[in-house]
Amino acid sequence: MARRDKERSLHALYDAIRRDAFYRKENMGDVFVPGDGSMEDGVIVLIGEAPGRDEEREGKPFVGAAGRNLNALLLENGLAREDLFITNLLKYRPRTSTGANRSPAAAECRYALPFLERELDILRPGLAVCLGLSPAKALLNDPHLKMGRANGALFRGAGLNILVTYHPSPFNFMVPEKSSALRRAFRQVAVRPE
Ligand code: URA
Repeated sequence: MARRDKERSLHALYDAIRRDAFYRKENMGDVFVPGDGSMEDGVIVLIGEAPGRDEEREGKPFVGAAGRNLNALLLENGLAREDLFITNLLKYRPRTSTGANRSPAAAECRYALPFLERELDILRPGLAVCLGLSPAKALLNDPHLKMGRANGALFRGAGLNILVTYHPSPFNFMVPEKSSALRRAFRQVAVRPE
């Protein structure tokens, strides 16, 4: 698909999500955060869980604390953010009754999955990188997936090459085993064969 057609198709998909009466639950923010980045053929697509407060404020994925960790991982591996496409499984912020970020429920992830699959179908990535268990479980259709085993592993699913690694949250980054597992996985992203 030519770039203009990809842009148009993504636009139509994002409009369909905004219009879908069941996608955004009452306990989600009302700011739609679309994917962002390169639409080159064979692009690397990074898939997070859902936007947080910072992403909601800027309307872009991974611009808060997790985004800064992600930027560091990319920099270490000579990868430029503008050469990748960055998106989330959920496009709205799941929030608690007090307004804090919360993890999405399994049913919310299931509902969002066909929309993510369509997004990937449009982008046709060379590699899809799942950042954290939520997108990995959803895309690989494996609710029992464990990160200890899955980190750095390459899967083939739904016609995609899928690499699974930890979410670059500050919470994970503080744990030396998890941050070095993330670093190992990102080295694989950088050196993957064409
Ligand atoms: N965490 C995510 O999973 N996605 C974001 O966009 C930000 C933080």
